[in-house]
Amino acid sequence: MSVLTLEVKEIIEDAPNLKTYVFEHGLRAKPGQFVMVWMPGVDEVPMSIGWQSDTQFHLSIALAGDCTKAIHEQIKVGDKLGMRGPYGNPFTHEGYKNIVLVGGGCGMPPMLSLAQSATKAGVKTTVLLGGRTKDHLLFEKKFKDLGCEIHAATDDGSKGHKGFVTDVLEKELEKGGVDCVYTCGPEMMMVKVAQLAQDYNTPSQVSLERYMKCGFGICGQCCIDGTGLRVCKDGPVFPGEVALKHQEFGKYKRDSAGVKIGLDGCRL
Ligand SMILES: Cc1cc2nc3c(=O)[nH]c(=O)nc-3n(C[C@H](O)[C@H](O)[C@H](O)COP(=O)(O)OP(=O)(O)OC[C@H]3O[C@@H](n4cnc5c(N)ncnc54)[C@H](O)[C@@H]3O)c2cc1C
Ligand code: FES
Repeated sequence: MSVLTLEVKEIIEDAPNLKTYVFEHGLRAKPGQFVMVWMPGVDEVPMSIGWQSDTQFHLSIALAGDCTKAIHEQIKVGDKLGMRGPYGNPFTHEGYKNIVLVGGGCGMPPMLSLAQSATKAGVKTTVLLGGRTKDHLLFEKKFKDLGCEIHAATDDGSKGHKGFVTDVLEKELEKGGVDCVYTCGPEMMMVKVAQLAQDYNTPSQVSLERYMKCGFGICGQCCIDGTGLRVCKDGPVFPGEVALKHQEFGKYKRDSAGVKIGLDGCRL
């Protein structure tokens, strides 16, 4: 774990309301791990490590609320951002030959990092990209350049299958031969992915998002009801069958004060 203050070398507008911040630093994080990014006077928020090389890593930050708004509006190329990490239990693909990645929205950065690691190890990697429109499909070229097979699904049908990315997953699972399914993105999508994988007797790994404070397992903010597991330390990546046992998976989460809120952020 490191505490870093890094200069932003480049900012790429990858999708509406999503900016990718490029840092020249070899973080060597495992796929699915995250850093806590600090915006002084506002908040500190978890962000997944996306694209990585020996000398660079990317954070793709979607506009959500106060902290991400401050980063989007105030941080320019040449400015510095404070962060600590990497933290968390990563995705693993050891022993697998054929895997399927299912992602949507700001769940795509860890999928990209996983695709880099898996394709480097010679694992056949199929990526199912979901988004509201074709403009919301992230990192298509990067996945293609890695040699992944790609299938898109959009809500409006502007690219690929018109409908849910999980419809495409079901077709892939029907074909057979999938060793593991991985997912990160909207929680209801991840619930469906974990259930489908279970229906087809296929292992899955899901990356959960919960409000975090310490980010490394001591404050208890991110404990999940039912299992008591900590998203920051025992996760964010959990086996699908464990996630399906979490009482709150697909149902609710907690705000910074620990109060139960809906997955849409509204009070229950
Ligand atoms: C392990 C992990 C990795 C993440 N990786 C990324 C990433 O790569 N890119 C990205 O854009 N975002 C990522 N997030 C989500 C990101 O941390 C939140 O969107 C961010 O904290 C919102 O902060 P804010 O102050 O802008 O919004 P707030 O004002 O705090 O909240 C805005 C809305 O987002 C909801 N929210 C806030 N934090 C979370 C959270 N942690 N999980 C679920 N909902 C939340 C609130 O309930 C509210 O509805 C990740 C979260 C986790 C736990
Ligand atoms: S954020 Fe403190 S234990 Fe997870």
